[in-house]
Amino acid sequence: MKILTIFISFLFISEASNSHSHFPITRESVLMIAKGKIIYESNCIGCHQVNLGGAENWRDLDKDNHRKAPPLNGTGHAWHHDDVNLHNIIKYGLVKLVKNYDGKMLGFEKNLNDEDIDSVLSYMKSFWPNDVYQQQINLSK
Ligand code: HEC
Repeated sequence: MKILTIFISFLFISEASNSHSHFPITRESVLMIAKGKIIYESNCIGCHQVNLGGAENWRDLDKDNHRKAPPLNGTGHAWHHDDVNLHNIIKYGLVKLVKNYDGKMLGFEKNLNDEDIDSVLSYMKSFWPNDVYQQQINLSK
């Protein structure tokens, strides 16, 4: 009985923290990817670069000791996060999500709605190797 209660409360918590029941985001819609590309090119490309390759030597810090933009194309570690986390990182920025974090990526909650953010995620995933994509989809279910 106790185990069942724990299981049910776990389900409840994961439901509550996941307001987007449409996760995982796939790369099945050509339209969504095309929209994501446009959004990426007007909001993200300056830091994350063409083809989502990230800043040069992205593992090093920049001259003001901040992290540089990591790649989003499946070579970095963006795909280690599930969709809820990726969505929140884009929406709020790590600066808002992590206490005392001094980062350069501000969130996009004022400029992009949830659907826009999901399109960018779909676009990002269109770059990922199949095994990476599949692992991250499983993580996001
Ligand atoms: C001003 C530069 C800048 C812009 C613009 C920017 N980012 Fe970032 N991004 C970063 C940096 C730097 C990080 C590393 C974390 C940090 O320091 O905040 C990051 C981290 C991320 C991460 C986490 C990746 C990981 O490996 O953990 C994602 C996802 C992401 N950005 C997506 C986006 C998307 C999508 C956009 C456009 C809507 C965007 N970023 C715009 C600089 C930027």
